[in-house]
Amino acid sequence: MADLTTNFLGISSPNPFWLASAPPTDKEYNVRRAFEAGWGGVVWKTLGSEGPPVVNVNGPRYGAIYGADRRLLGLNNIELITDRDLYTNLEEIKRVKADYPDRALIVSIMVPCEEEAWKAILPLVEDTGADGIELNFGCPHGMSERGMGAAVGQVPEYIEMVTRWCKQYYSKPVIVKLTPNITDVRKPAAAAKRGGADAVSLINTINSITSVNLDSMSPEPSIDGKGTHGGYCGPAVKPIAMSMVSEIARNSETQGFPISGIGGVTTWRDAAEFITLGCGNVQVCTAAMTYGFKIVQEMISGLSDWMDSKGHTSIDDFLGAAVPNTTDWQYLNLNYVAKAKIDQDACISCGRCYAACEDTSHQAIAMSPDRVFTVIDEECVACNLCVDVCPVEDCISMEQLAPGTVDPRTGKTVQDAYANWTTHPNNPGAVAAE
Ligand SMILES: Cc1cc2nc3c(=O)[nH]c(=O)nc-3n(C[C@H](O)[C@H](O)[C@H](O)COP(=O)(O)O)c2cc1C
Repeated sequence: MADLTTNFLGISSPNPFWLASAPPTDKEYNVRRAFEAGWGGVVWKTLGSEGPPVVNVNGPRYGAIYGADRRLLGLNNIELITDRDLYTNLEEIKRVKADYPDRALIVSIMVPCEEEAWKAILPLVEDTGADGIELNFGCPHGMSERGMGAAVGQVPEYIEMVTRWCKQYYSKPVIVKLTPNITDVRKPAAAAKRGGADAVSLINTINSITSVNLDSMSPEPSIDGKGTHGGYCGPAVKPIAMSMVSEIARNSETQGFPISGIGGVTTWRDAAEFITLGCGNVQVCTAAMTYGFKIVQEMISGLSDWMDSKGHTSIDDFLGAAVPNTTDWQYLNLNYVAKAKIDQDACISCGRCYAACEDTSHQAIAMSPDRVFTVIDEECVACNLCVDVCPVEDCISMEQLAPGTVDPRTGKTVQDAYANWTTHPNNPGAVAAE
């Protein structure tokens, strides 16, 4: 039976599923219910400095992008950090941690980029007994205009400086949460490491406007006729998050640096994918907001079943397993040749593959008068567009041509296009061997 326990930064939790800092972790009531449902840990909704809490809008604060079946694919929000009193939050954190010693409880913090502000809040957080802190350098709206959140996360020097203060005034693990609203995510990650951070977490939300109301001419969500950009999250952002995670995982400056993966995790499979890219655990927000806390039970059973089926007994067994296979384009094997193949029994003759290939790709699918679709191997470059647009799963597949066969498109014997991959200069293994 697979063991899902994780020991991220020495913080033990019964499974790798943590709730990300957001409304699900905004208060004691929520977090207790989350722990009862089975979440391994939570990052408490971001706390701000002592004083009057921030004030949120009193109108819609979310916008959504849907799939054709109205399944929520992307969520946009213009919410700020916690709008509850600092001391109320701290007392609740202390109580919850005392009652759930086996779960991870991390406190997210965002205060002004001044040493005194961090020096003031860190001992208060330390006193709660929470397991660590996460520095919110990511929120793209509302707080960044006040010189916090993404405004800090976009300047590596600030990240390094604030992280140093935190390591100076706080004794437990410090996680730096990164913004994706930046060109090269490797730079803030490396800065966090230089500042002494114990880990990075990513991604926070992506700048976004989800829709414009064409009657009022206002971006949505609209507050009294005006809208603003918000932060995008949910299944739609997972590919962006995974790419950024992989950049950090394979960058020589941050290789092996602990990562907590965030962005669109909805199923056990999403979590497994983040873990293979080097994440010691994952954090979830939109999936919990869409389906409720009990979704974690499916994540736990799904991951456990998959691990059993693969013979993985612990999370460490496959942590980072896909990192060595994530490479730059130039290292891809150009000797590899595939062709599309259509399963005629599964085909529903919709013609999407034909339309896509004929109009926009390589004219490699033929349509007979009675709507039978077949691949023209002489034209097919195996681009995968037909697979991507086909509405029937597994109806079209890409099949590799065996070495030694002739590619009808090029007339060359497969593995002949580049004389021999094992010695080709594009092959990093070959270069290393020389
Ligand atoms: C309504 C809402 C509020 C959020 N508030 C915070 C916050 O206070 N602090 C923070 O670090 N991230 C905040 N986030 C970002 C999430 O923690 C997370 O990074 C992001 O939603 C991506 O994960 P997901 O795709 O699972 O939602 C918020 C997200 C949403 C949707």
